[in-house]
This record gives sequence, structure tokens and C-alpha cells, in this order.
Amino acid sequence: MERPPLNRNLAGFGTTVFAEMSALAQRTGAINLGQGFPDTDGPEAVREAAVRALRDGRGNQYPPGPGVPELRRAVADHQHRWYGTEYDPDSEVLVTAGATEAIAAALLALVEPGDEVIALEPYYDSYAACIAMAGGTRVPVTLRPSDGAFVLDPDELRAAVTPRTRLILLNTPHNPTGTVLTREELAVVATIAQEHDLLVVTDEVYEHLVFEGEHVPLASLPGMRERTVTISSAGKTFSFTGWKIGWITGPPELVTAVRTAKQFLTYVSGGPFQYAVAEALRLPGSYFRGFLEDLRGKRDLLATGLAEAGFGVFRPQGTYFVTADIRPLGRTNGVAFCRALPERVGVVAIPNAVFYDHADAGAPFVRFAFCKRPEVLAEAVARLKAL
Ligand SMILES: Cc1ncc(COP(=O)(O)O)c(C=O)c1O
Repeated sequence: MERPPLNRNLAGFGTTVFAEMSALAQRTGAINLGQGFPDTDGPEAVREAAVRALRDGRGNQYPPGPGVPELRRAVADHQHRWYGTEYDPDSEVLVTAGATEAIAAALLALVEPGDEVIALEPYYDSYAACIAMAGGTRVPVTLRPSDGAFVLDPDELRAAVTPRTRLILLNTPHNPTGTVLTREELAVVATIAQEHDLLVVTDEVYEHLVFEGEHVPLASLPGMRERTVTISSAGKTFSFTGWKIGWITGPPELVTAVRTAKQFLTYVSGGPFQYAVAEALRLPGSYFRGFLEDLRGKRDLLATGLAEAGFGVFRPQGTYFVTADIRPLGRTNGVAFCRALPERVGVVAIPNAVFYDHADAGAPFVRFAFCKRPEVLAEAVARLKAL
């Protein structure tokens, strides 16, 4: 067969590093700080809400295509409660199968072959695959290490725009660097988007995990609501990553476009979980504060431990990942380092290089997830100190 079975747009998207590293973790019994999922479930009340919905027969058959009205209303109320933005639950909210489907549907809906999509590098791995599936060309803008953080250079962003640019794909708080874009940085993004009439898709799944500064939704900036699709998900905020309930908010014409693509992907998903997430979004402020403080403690435990183990540490402003620099340990190749780490000390991390087009820029960095029980993090730190 001359032609490979896999659509050539997807060449190079073989096995993800997460699969490779999780398999390694299993084989070696290593502590898996690779993939970002919590090792304890979210609130009991939310779990019970899902059980109730199942038992009451709510959502056991196809829910409405855009999502159940209770959840769409809860998403709209959540955006208003936290950010003061107004969305109409009927025309400006769409429920998706996690943020992952929202990203896919948004890119398939808004990007045509030949369009360029600017994405912050390092980027969450599904961005590259979804841009490719849409036939677009990704144009990475590299976040550069400076003073213990990864920062966006506005001039680099401006220089990345061409007549073919269709949209900017943003992510704040940012996985894997932990950077939280400031209001000033977002204002630059907004200016560029408006000057060049670009759309923006912004992935804000870590919106409730900001330790320093504040989460500013790009759509809340002047002139941005009408050109911005905002994505979020229950997985991270409520620690139910297996439920895969996500959503987008945006102006009616963009939401309609995304819904058009989404209806042929999953059509609908997670009926009973949608009702439970509607209740979760209405949890009192104490839940959100408790969640943040719990993760802050875990961040401090891991970041401090990594520094004591000899890594250079980028203390994250947000998300539940720490990016660490292996050069102080006398190493430069993160991929080789991560492949050897489980056998050497029994810990799994992810090499940031896989999140880059310019792999050199990410070569010495590795990512650890800290959404794990404190005793697991403490044991991982103890093992890493053997390096
Ligand atoms: C930046 C980012 N976006 C999206 C997702 C996926 O979210 P979901 O599980 O809701 O599909 C993740 C999960 O790790 C993520 O880190």
C-alpha cells in the first residue's frame, strides 16, 4: 500500500507521550506525575447529584443538542457571578464532551484549509492535532523563560500575524508553564485581534486555579466578546475528569458555527452528568476557595521539593502543573531524562519538548502534575532527591 492508512494531516500524531509515559509508570510501578488528573474525586454532593439524575431518569436518553437547559443556565450564571459577563443560555452557551471536544469543534468550525492559527507554544497537545484535522497551519508563538516565569512577547505575537491568520488560540492559565496572562498582556492580544479582525478561541479550563494574580477572561475585555469563543470544563474545577462535561460561551453566530461541527462529533454526551455539573457550578464560594487553597498547598509542596532536589523551578501562577528545568542537574535533554526517570527513581514526568514545534526551546524543561494526595507528592519528592 503506497498510501498510509492514516490521513496524512495526522502524520506525526502517533502515540502520545502520555500513553508512553503512563505505560512506563505501570511497568515500573513509578509514581505518575505525568498526566493531569486528580487522584481523589470531587465533592460528594456533586457525585450524589449525578446518582440522583441517573435514578430520576434525567439525561438517560439523548439530552438536547446544545446541552440541558439547567446546565446552560448554570454556565451563563457562572460567567456572570465570577466575571460579570452576560450570556444568553439559549443562543450563547453550548455544552460539549469536555473541553477537548470544544477545542475540536471550534477549530473544525472556524478554520478552513490554508488558514493560519496562532497558538502559544508550548501548547496543549490536542491543539496541534485539531488544527491539522481542520486543515489549518499552526503558527507557534513561544512563551520565553524570564525571571522564573514563561512570558508572552507582544512583538512576537504581532509578528506572527499574516494575511492568512484566521484565529488566535489562547490558553490561560497556561498548561504546561503555569503562566497566567495579565490584563495588560490580554489587552495586547485584544488589540491585535481587533486590528487584524481575528477570531480568538480561549481555553480557560484552569480558570479557578489561579494562585497569583487573577483570571481575566479575554471575552471580558472591550470589543472582544463578539469575536471570542471561551472554553471551559468541569473536569479540572470539580475533579471529575472522567465525566467529560465542557462548554463554550460566545456570541450567537460563533456558538452556532461551533454547534454545527459539534453535532456531527458526539452530537450529545453525559446526560446525567450535565445535571450534576449544573449543581456544581452553583456551589458556594467556600468550595472554590477550598479547592484553590488545597492545590496551593500541593503546589508549594512539589515546587519546594523540586527545588530542594536540584531542579530549576518555575513556580506556577496557575494550573496544577510545575515546569522544571533539568539543567541545574547537569542534564539538557528532557525527553531522555523523562524516559529514564521511572527506572532511575520511580517517578514519571512529561518532557515539555513534545508541546513545542521549536523543540529546542523546550528541550531542558519537564512537567510535573501536583493534583495528587500530599503523601504521594511527598514520596515523589523524596524519590527525586535521590537524583
Ligand atoms: C489546557 C487544557 N485544555 C483542555 C483540557 C481537556 O479538558 P477536558 O478533560 O475537559 O476535555 C486539558 C486537560 O488536561 C487541558 O490541560
